[in-house]
Amino acid sequence: MLNGKRILLIISGGIAAYKSLELIRTLKKSGASVRCILTQGGAQFVTPLSVAALSEEQVYTDLWSLKDETEMGHIRLSRECDLIVVAPASANIIARIANGLADDLASTTILASDKPVMVCPAMNPQMWENAATKSNIETLKKRGVIISGPAAGEMACGEIGYGRLLEPDVILSAITDFFFADKPLAGLKAIVTAGPTFEPIDPVRFVGNRSSGKQGYAIAKALSDLGASVTLVTGPTNEDAPSGIKTICIETARQMLESCQKLLPSDIAVCAAAVADWTPETYQNSKIKKTSDTSVTLKMTQNPDILSTLSKSVEKRPHLIVGFAAETDNLVDNARMKLLKKGCDWIVANSVSPENPVFGADENQVYFITSDKVEEWPRATKDDVARKLAARIVEFFNQDKAKHAAE
Ligand code: C5P
Repeated sequence: MLNGKRILLIISGGIAAYKSLELIRTLKKSGASVRCILTQGGAQFVTPLSVAALSEEQVYTDLWSLKDETEMGHIRLSRECDLIVVAPASANIIARIANGLADDLASTTILASDKPVMVCPAMNPQMWENAATKSNIETLKKRGVIISGPAAGEMACGEIGYGRLLEPDVILSAITDFFFADKPLAGLKAIVTAGPTFEPIDPVRFVGNRSSGKQGYAIAKALSDLGASVTLVTGPTNEDAPSGIKTICIETARQMLESCQKLLPSDIAVCAAAVADWTPETYQNSKIKKTSDTSVTLKMTQNPDILSTLSKSVEKRPHLIVGFAAETDNLVDNARMKLLKKGCDWIVANSVSPENPVFGADENQVYFITSDKVEEWPRATKDDVARKLAARIVEFFNQDKAKHAAE
């Protein structure tokens, strides 16, 4: 699925242009948004109206259109996309891109773009075999342009050879590969909890803790960068909501638990939040008044344990559950005990002794603990710890896949 991906489709001249209509439908169906540029040649084969109707967007055709240029200039067109796809790409547009021409809207947009470009050639087999085209294709490849196709077969002109535009579903899978080939967690759902919880005493007071949320946010980002579909469930922090990651803001442990349970089933759960173990037994609807008493007693009751609840859920247990442990004494022994008691798969343990201030810091030194090993990871930024943990998660799912394949 290409959910949220923005494709700028350039349709150049050629009998295969009719397939671009099907390509627009295929891309839209897979969740992408599609904006189109139709070259003069392309407009000989498909009409701007059909392209606009299928893409549900205005179609751009003319570099010199005052209206288009003021509404959506070629610079914006070239930047507001995740991938430019030229399909069909005629020998002519390939030559113009290779030589850096900027003599129409399509070539100017490509020249002005800092986005990746995929070219799907379609032409007569002799034109494809011509040394000029071959050299242009080599030039484009050297510049990192992705060349998809052409396929072999019978041409509209009756000749047989390489020159057919790839079928729309094949172009879709080339685009999907481009976006997700280096995204080993694509297709997996992850829940990450982060930050503290605030347990209210009365309308103005609460019991909280010093967790900054930095480690959890970094983990959410690292998993998302590897293609996982991440939902971050976070207590109050000063961190900016990470872009592209669905974020649910909660205050109390109960709200965090409810949000996590609603997100099941999920493949991965990483509980990095510093959840308050206790919450005031009763919530006072009005602000508690100061009296002449010199002391006050706050009766607390235990909060639900989110990590334990997820780990012990029978029907919808996430496939891999990672907990955190912040300890002041006997770090590794206590963390191992926690792993067993809570029933999670891995624990990332850090010492919160005064010599190792973790809360709010940008660095962390952790132990990575599973049922059969303990690894001491060197001190590193929280971003690096997150990336290392995400790499372990990739390994876990790769091994899991290999195990299933062998069965
Ligand atoms: O028991 P302790 O708080 O040390 O355990 C830490 C781990 O358990 C962390 O992964 C934390 O997110 C999780 N936890 C939880 N719900 C609680 C308490 C802790 O999910 N109520």
